[in-house]
Parts: sequence; C-alpha cells; structure tokens
Amino acid sequence: MTLDQVYDSRRAVNFFDKEKPLAEATLKNIVNMAVLAPSAFNLQPWEIIAVKSDEAKAKLHAAANKQPKILDAPVTLIIVGNRKGFEASNPVWQDKIDAAGGDPSKVKGAMEAAARLYGSTEERSIKFAESNSGLIAMSILYAAKFYGVDSHPMSGMDFAAVKEAFELGDGKEPVILISLGYRDETKTLHGRAKRRGYDEVVTVL
Ligand SMILES: Cc1cc2nc3c(=O)[nH]c(=O)nc-3n(C[C@H](O)[C@H](O)[C@H](O)COP(=O)(O)O)c2cc1C
Repeated sequence: MTLDQVYDSRRAVNFFDKEKPLAEATLKNIVNMAVLAPSAFNLQPWEIIAVKSDEAKAKLHAAANKQPKILDAPVTLIIVGNRKGFEASNPVWQDKIDAAGGDPSKVKGAMEAAARLYGSTEERSIKFAESNSGLIAMSILYAAKFYGVDSHPMSGMDFAAVKEAFELGDGKEPVILISLGYRDETKTLHGRAKRRGYDEVVTVL
C-alpha cells in the first residue's frame, strides 16, 4: 500500500466485526512501526494499554461513554501520556547516555533543557504529554491501515475515570483511545466528511 492509499483509506470505523480477532503479531507490527513517530528529545513519553479481555473492556466501556466499539473491537488501545516523561526516571535518558559512550555529563544539558521546557508549568507538562501522545496515536492509525487493520480514535471518555480504573501512575494521563480490528462489512460506512483544504486552513505570512 502506498502512503497516499494509506491516507485515503483510513477511516474512523464505527462497526467492528466481533468475530474477527486481531493477531498478536499484527498488533506488534503496528506498534513497532508506529513508535517511529517523532517525540520531543525523542523521549517517547507514552505508554499503551491494550484492552483485550472482557473484564478490561467492560471497565473501559463504562468509563468511555459506553461506546459500543470498545466491546465490539478485538482490542482498544489506551494511549497514555506521561506528563513527567522528561524526568530522569525515563529509561530513554539511559539509552542516550549509553549512546554517548556511558558519559552522563553528555546528556545533562538536554535533561535540564527538557525539564525547563516541559516541567516548569502545569500547562507545559500537559502539552508535552498530549502533543507527543497525539503523534504516536496518529502513527498507530496509519500503521494499522498499512497492515490492513481498521481503527477508530476516541476521546469521548471520562478521563479521570479511565485513569482511576486502569490505575495509571502519577503524571500518567489517558490521552486518546484507539479501537483496532476489522470493520463489519455488513454495515455501511458513511462517506468521508468534507475536509477544509490548503486555501481554507493556511495563512501565509
Ligand atoms: C481526537 C479525536 C477524538 C475522537 N473521538 C471520538 C469519539 O469519542 N467517538 C466517536 O465516535 N468518534 C470519535 N472520533 C472520530 C471522528 O469523529 C472522525 O475521525 C471524524 O469524523 C472524521 O472521520 P474519518 O476519521 O472517518 O475521516 C474522534 C477523532 C479524533 C481525532
């Protein structure tokens, strides 16, 4: 599939085939492709919870406006953004130290800059978590399509309820949900809604 075909054919699919599972290997391929998404300082301040069991689906369904696709799709991903992902506890810093020949002083400046940029106010930490998680989310939607898998992004949820139900740790926030699976071919997918193009959205200064 070419990139334009991926973009053209990705849709938010409302109806999933309940009988069609998603192979674990396919989910791994999707995520391993999607993690090539960019992130600030390459900090990858995200985690993904794959909701597959009936019990976990019921919990998520209750906290996410009872959206039926959470029960119907074989898996729904909770994309979790880490508002503290710039801190020293992020293992990515160690990867950077290793890549710098094991010398922590080589990444000290970057660690301080990241803390200043993303940790100095609450607003900055929220933007940090949400902007990076948005990029991995979009990357997952396109990677899924590339592997022939349908998807549906959702932010219709009680964020606090999801955080509590899935016991997300300090600074970790649910950002978006993505149901993955195969669309129910017996149901009609409505036409693609109009997009506002370059002339409507771009201001050249
Ligand atoms: C951040 C975000 C949140 C969304 N939340 C929901 C949702 O909670 N429920 C829903 O049915 N669709 C949701 N959608 C799907 C959009 O309605 C859909 O992407 C849009 O209408 C465009 O359709 P298309 O993706 O098929 O092109 C969401 C999409 C995005 C990007």
